[in-house]
Amino acid sequence: MMQAVKISDKVYWVGAIDWNLRDFHGYATHRGTTYNAYLILDDKPTLIDTVKKEFYDEMMQRIQSVIDPQKIEIIISNHAELDHAGSLVQTMATVKPQAVYASIMGAKNLTAHFHQDLHIKIAKTGDRINIGEDTICFTEARMLHWPDSMFSYLERENILFSNDVFGMHYATNRLFDDENDSKEWFPEAAKYYANIVLPYSDIVLRFLEQIKKIGLSPHLIAPDHGFIWRKNPSEIVNLYEKWAQQKPTNKAVIIYDTMWGSTEKIARQIADGLSAGGATVKMLSMHQNDRSQAALELLDSAALLVGSPVLNNQIFPSLADVLCYLKGLRKKGLIGAAFGSYGWNGAPIDELATTLQSMQVELTVPTLKTMFVPDETILQKGREMGLEMSRQIAAKLNL
Ligand code: FEO
Repeated sequence: MMQAVKISDKVYWVGAIDWNLRDFHGYATHRGTTYNAYLILDDKPTLIDTVKKEFYDEMMQRIQSVIDPQKIEIIISNHAELDHAGSLVQTMATVKPQAVYASIMGAKNLTAHFHQDLHIKIAKTGDRINIGEDTICFTEARMLHWPDSMFSYLERENILFSNDVFGMHYATNRLFDDENDSKEWFPEAAKYYANIVLPYSDIVLRFLEQIKKIGLSPHLIAPDHGFIWRKNPSEIVNLYEKWAQQKPTNKAVIIYDTMWGSTEKIARQIADGLSAGGATVKMLSMHQNDRSQAALELLDSAALLVGSPVLNNQIFPSLADVLCYLKGLRKKGLIGAAFGSYGWNGAPIDELATTLQSMQVELTVPTLKTMFVPDETILQKGREMGLEMSRQIAAKLNL
């Protein structure tokens, strides 16, 4: 039988490790993930969140290792997305809890998922429930990252159960920050912010301000993915503050694809120009890279340059994919440009520039396009485009 792991005086981790997950609704999860559920053994045993449906048995075994599941009196759903609520109905059927709590939007969204009356009790910001020696205080966290998102704070033990926030897609059996190598987890934490939390950065900043104002300093931050912050919970809070501010560095990202090498030839010249001008460059062919890697690279970038060939009078499908994805992530403050190669209709490359504008990317150098293979003049223009962009980045950053 799989075992629960004690994380504090009264709290056990009863989640599941998904070592093999490689795609989380379009986000490439090269290191898998965890679905964290937590069991509080107080007078009224309380379960915080459940796990993805396929991992119900694993969660239930871990619960059974410390308590008869039917002794659980309260279930709290901090988030309705199915990686946390997917086992909720089945768990309720087994446990028969006296009460299930969720935010008002949680109740609405759970109903829209399961189409049955789950008799959810509504938890509003500031509501508190006594579970014995300890008390749980709720805070609605709308759009961090869904309308239903909610935090539960265990007051006496000083533990913040933060649902998806402060998490990462990182499968590990080492449940605490100090047991994991920052060289491994840091890129995953940044990637998670860039792909999940970034569009809600203004809300993150307001939320962190509130935390500071009330002087909340949790002993543990226990998110629903990755590990628990124990040694230094403020580390992830500070990283969120930095990422949410979206301050650019001296870095440009070139995202492109190529059919017969022409667009890539221009991309390489642009990269060389950027480099000669002192910028850090990341070149991502969308043939070899995934959209979530592109989102990660943009997190600390000042500029986005996008190159596409024209296929059947359209931009290349891999570019349409990544731009649709990045548009939804609403990265702020980018300057940029479009470039590419066409055969007999160059209009799609102009449309690429328009798409960048619709993503709030400020086009600061003219679009560069070539008919079929770029000649020396076009290649030189590509290098100049990179140099000019590096100058603009430096000016933007006051370098
Ligand atoms: Fe981990 Fe928004 O679900």
